[in-house]
Amino acid sequence: MCGIVAYIGSRHAHSVILKGLKRLEYRGYDSAGLALMNGNLSVYKKQGKVSDLENYLHEVGQDTLHASLGIGHTRWATHGEPNDVNAHPHYSGNKELAIIHNGIIENYDSLRTELINKGHQFESETDTEVLIHFIEDIKKHENLSLEESVRVALTRVIGAYAICIVSASEPNTLIAARKGSPLVLGLGKEKGEFFLASDATPIVEYTSDVVYLNDNEVCVIKNEKFTIKDIHTELETAPYIQTLDIELEAIEKGGFEHFMLKEIYEQPKSISDCMRGRLNAETSTMMLGGIREYIDNMVDANRIIIIGCGTSWHAGLVAEYIFEDLCRIPVEVEYASEFRYRNPVINPGDVVIAISQSGETADTLAAIELAKAQGAIVLGVCNVVGSSIARASHAGSYTHAGPEIGVASTKAFTAQLTVLTMFALLVGRKKGTLDEAFYQTLLQEMDEIPEKVEKALELNAHIKYISDIYKDATNAIYLGRGHNFPVALEGALKLKEISYIHAEGYPAAEMKHGPIALIDKEMPVVVVATQDSSYEKVVSNIQEVKARKGQVIAVVTEGDSLIANMADHVLEIPATNQLLTPLVSVIPLQLLSYHIAVLRNCNVDQPRNLAKSVTVE
Ligand code: M6R
Repeated sequence: MCGIVAYIGSRHAHSVILKGLKRLEYRGYDSAGLALMNGNLSVYKKQGKVSDLENYLHEVGQDTLHASLGIGHTRWATHGEPNDVNAHPHYSGNKELAIIHNGIIENYDSLRTELINKGHQFESETDTEVLIHFIEDIKKHENLSLEESVRVALTRVIGAYAICIVSASEPNTLIAARKGSPLVLGLGKEKGEFFLASDATPIVEYTSDVVYLNDNEVCVIKNEKFTIKDIHTELETAPYIQTLDIELEAIEKGGFEHFMLKEIYEQPKSISDCMRGRLNAETSTMMLGGIREYIDNMVDANRIIIIGCGTSWHAGLVAEYIFEDLCRIPVEVEYASEFRYRNPVINPGDVVIAISQSGETADTLAAIELAKAQGAIVLGVCNVVGSSIARASHAGSYTHAGPEIGVASTKAFTAQLTVLTMFALLVGRKKGTLDEAFYQTLLQEMDEIPEKVEKALELNAHIKYISDIYKDATNAIYLGRGHNFPVALEGALKLKEISYIHAEGYPAAEMKHGPIALIDKEMPVVVVATQDSSYEKVVSNIQEVKARKGQVIAVVTEGDSLIANMADHVLEIPATNQLLTPLVSVIPLQLLSYHIAVLRNCNVDQPRNLAKSVTVE
């Protein structure tokens, strides 16, 4: 969590940084700040959003802000509550250095005690301030250059970081380093212009040439050049310059009130983009270049273990049904955070699929390392190109959904399902567990999904109307069976994270084992009740809810008159094969949570306490 941006070049550093921070605000929005080399080394910071910092800078006055070098930060608090003092950047004790940091220094407490014993005084409660004092201390007592002091300090700290450091005594130098938190270097078009950021979104407007720093690398920019070295070996590494393929429009709201709504509406396109060049229904062909060499590992796997967190974990749960149906391979779906700490049994021949939109989720990353260390093949399903999880996996397929900025994951979920379904189709066909006729039917059905999602989006006005009725609910239950059970979990997660209404997702049949006690005339019960193999059973579950006067909002297959006569509200979606239904049935639930949150005046794109990219465990 936390977003960092740094700039050196001939533009106004503060403008580049503020704009960049707004793009990174999805990573944290407790406080924001920047440090500018404007004659002195000046730090400006404020509790609240980047807009609060911007207002504060207006008061400070533009004249004082002129600088060609600066660093900026938007914070998701870990050590110390969100306030002005704990906001980044942090000065060293002598105010010569300033730092921004994304990550956690785990041994900060012992370092802090050590430094206090040496006379250091701290203003904030943060681990970051300890790190910059530690660097200052090494510089002073070991008589090292700034660059060396940073490198030596980093060999002695434990934890994760992406940092940028500036020094008043070296006003044209910018130092950055990464371990466990992402950092991208942008190479400006003009000589001597460089950008650093937590992801490419603050950079894309200025250049498409970037270098993704690797763990344990320190980057020094000075004399209009940059060098990258390994923190431990001190050896210089040759930079791998990549070209960004993000368009500027993709990271702007494009006329929508919120990113979340834009991203919900983008799904017909993002699903098509995900299939483009991979799945061809006309020729009945499919190809996933990224995992080509690993298809046989899946075909021969005794077991597939899927790991992820939040929405990505829900995508894994849907994939479990699909893989077991089409490939007859046992699948286990694990929260990455549980998997990594419970000494899991990993056998030779197991394949691990790691799902992550951001590709930076700390628990998923750690689970991958554990699986690899025990000999598993790890395949990544990530959205962010070049992300840590994509790079840590043996191979994988990108979801190509485009940047997802709203904290609530929407288009990433459907793109993940699309990729995972393609995995299963390839494996099932090669393994012989999926016959050719059904394979072709599914390819055809996949091809039609974007159109069906488009149709589901037409429910928007009706969903807005229903949302107005239930916006003041304090609890909600979401039910589904089979493939639609994870959709129920996902619907409940969406509602609670952006509207702060307590919601529970349950397999419909489990309701009578406890949650049914919660049902009364006030309780909205959202039931995903499409016409599939468990339809009759779900119909009975709806009757059980109605018998207890619960309010039923049912997502049904087009033309379903039976449920229409029972439920309080029905949302009709186009029919598709039940394996693919979640790709469509989730759409009304995304819209429902969106409208309820808007009607409750919640900050949809930046819900309280959350951040888009969870880089702490
Ligand atoms: O980037 P990831 O897919 O690894 O993120 C996992 C979760 O943090 C994420 O899905 C989270 O639950 C979303 N806010 C859900 O909308």
